[in-house]
Amino acid sequence: MGNLIDSRDLRMKTTHSPDFSPVHVPHGPLTEYYQTEQDRQAFLKKIFDDTAPDYDRIERMMALNTGPWYRRGALARAGLKHGMKVLDVGVGTGLVAAQACILTGDPALVTGVDPSSGMMAASKLPEGMTLVEGRAESLPFPDNHFDFLSMGYALRHIGDLSKAFAEFERVLKPGGRLCVLEITQAESAPGRWLLKTYMRGVIPLLTRFISRQKMSETIWRYYWDSIEACVPPEQVMATMRAAGLKQVERQASLGVCSEYHAVKAEK
Ligand SMILES: C[S@@+](CC[C@H](N)C(=O)[O-])C[C@H]1O[C@@H](n2cnc3c(N)ncnc32)[C@H](O)[C@@H]1O
Repeated sequence: MGNLIDSRDLRMKTTHSPDFSPVHVPHGPLTEYYQTEQDRQAFLKKIFDDTAPDYDRIERMMALNTGPWYRRGALARAGLKHGMKVLDVGVGTGLVAAQACILTGDPALVTGVDPSSGMMAASKLPEGMTLVEGRAESLPFPDNHFDFLSMGYALRHIGDLSKAFAEFERVLKPGGRLCVLEITQAESAPGRWLLKTYMRGVIPLLTRFISRQKMSETIWRYYWDSIEACVPPEQVMATMRAAGLKQVERQASLGVCSEYHAVKAEK
């Protein structure tokens, strides 16, 4: 495995990870919430639909208001430039897509896709952007269509990562770039304890007081439980490579904010 530290900003970069095989599911069933894969999809759709009006407020609290700045920086680091045609998968309320609109300079160049109509209905996006109902595993777009594909914090919710990454490769143009953002487990024991206390204890507790929707506390508990159960970053990268994506790498800020980058091969 190649681990490099970028001395400018102390982001850890992982460039190569042998010995890991591709995966389909990002984690096994979390039976406190649902039993089967079909139940999981229905559980996720309902909980995202029901809690959508709370999402932006709670995300702001959890990320201490750094969300827009971090998402815009991550897209720029992955190579998003003015004039590019972008697909944002798992667009939700549009927190990544809004930053993509700024960087491309034209909301008409940005399309968002998500299975939760409730999340998309709660979005406050610039006029001109397109929102489409759909899943990462079966994208409703033609081959070779986008210059850039982003996905923020939806990786753990996908039913089949191999299918999703194959879809990302299919809809990207040759040379097109991928940026996937996700929270991952800290490597050190104190880091893991700190993150778990914050995300499994503090955030759901605060959510109980500030949310307007009954299920909001549950979704933020689930948020952590799915992070804890998720396959390691090396396996995510192995799955991207198996889908044909090139130059796959991961940068991790604070050891837990993962940015996966990849490129579709030029023909
Ligand atoms: C935590 S929200 C992230 C929203 C936004 N990208 C952000 O950065 O805040 C996760 C989103 O992934 C969506 N999602 C769940 N399953 C999905 C799937 N199979 N394909 C695409 N999106 C999915 C959910 O509906 C939800 O809107």
